Amino acid sequence: MKKYNVGIIGATGMVGQRFATILENHPWFNVVCLAASPRSAGKTYEEAVGSRWAMVAPMPESMKSMVMYDATADIEKIAKIADFVFCAVDMKKDEIKALEEAYAKAECPVVSNNSAHRHTDDVPMVIPEVNPEHIEIISAQRKRLGTKKGFIAVKSNCSIQSYVPALHPLMKYGISKVLACTYQAISGAGKTFETWPEMIDNLIPFIGGEEEKSEKEPLKVWGHIEGEKIVNTDKPMITTQCLRVPVSDGHTAAVFVSFDNKPTKEQILKDWKDFAGVPQELELPSAPKQFLNYFEEENRPQSKLDRMLEGGMAVSIGRLREDTQYDYKFVCLSHNTLRGAAGGAVLLAELLAAKGYFD
Ligand SMILES: NC(=O)c1ccc[n+]([C@@H]2O[C@H](COP(=O)([O-])OP(=O)(O)OC[C@H]3O[C@@H](n4cnc5c(N)ncnc54)[C@H](OP(=O)(O)O)[C@@H]3O)[C@@H](O)[C@H]2O)c1
Repeated sequence: MKKYNVGIIGATGMVGQRFATILENHPWFNVVCLAASPRSAGKTYEEAVGSRWAMVAPMPESMKSMVMYDATADIEKIAKIADFVFCAVDMKKDEIKALEEAYAKAECPVVSNNSAHRHTDDVPMVIPEVNPEHIEIISAQRKRLGTKKGFIAVKSNCSIQSYVPALHPLMKYGISKVLACTYQAISGAGKTFETWPEMIDNLIPFIGGEEEKSEKEPLKVWGHIEGEKIVNTDKPMITTQCLRVPVSDGHTAAVFVSFDNKPTKEQILKDWKDFAGVPQELELPSAPKQFLNYFEEENRPQSKLDRMLEGGMAVSIGRLREDTQYDYKFVCLSHNTLRGAAGGAVLLAELLAAKGYFD
């Protein structure tokens, strides 16, 4: 595989820092530029991040002295040196939409963590193991944007990255309804316990916009391409409650599910064990070998013990049992800033690279 030059837009933020650490020694992607707001532009990466570095791993040596670009003012410059960019910025939704389209129109593809374009009809929202075929909509998007190479591809919200993968191999039984309560880590808000001490010994029963995303996004991920757009599925019915909990990393979901054709517990366990997606078949560098992992112990998965399974890219599941109101209930966990954010975006970029979308 040839090496691609990449940029990180929003490099100083929580997700941007994850991108920096994940990409430091990536076999296919070479970080050549870092960008953020005008506040950071002109400073070195080390100066711009300052005391905000929140990763356990140190800042990559190769990036410390890189001089930051202005994400908006320097689009043309960045498009000249980067084959594509990763984007994770904290801006208004319409500003992010415009920013990402400007990169695409400058013929610089964007792999995005932001929610702004998740419901744009011809923008694929991809969990690479679940709906890799949605990247085929990119040809329609390029036609609309008038680009040869530029496009936008997004990953879905971190909250759905445990239960949608766990439910996906069970779709063949006709899932009729799902109830999911998520218990979400503070890094999902770009915070640590140092920057958000109020979260120690606390729980906040509200995360703005999260329940809508958690109910709506799976319907696009399980949708299909029809002509020039992705059409959402209308089943299953999904209802959620999303809570912020005092955990540094790792979003857990307690899931209840009913089927048209109820499988046995053994069938479900076998479906999870046997499931492999395109990333596993293509052996993409960031793909976990075993995506869905079931724990027999009744006190697993635990965020602290299990979030880093397979480099934080696998999903951990436990406590599958029958329910009195739904057919089954279980608990699942995924790392929100790895699988749920930067890692999921890098895996999507690997899929796009393997399929020739950056050439
Ligand atoms: N944290 C998660 O687990 C997670 C998961 C999935 C998706 N996301 C999404 O990823 C995005 C970033 O989240 P985050 O947690 O990394 O946020 P964050 O830590 O607050 O970082 C925000 C980044 O955006 C940059 N930025 C702010 N205003 C800008 C502007 N006007 N122009 C260009 N860059 C600007 C900041 O640059 P400066 O340092 O220069 O201000 C910084 O690099 C958000 O859309 C979020 O919803 C986050």
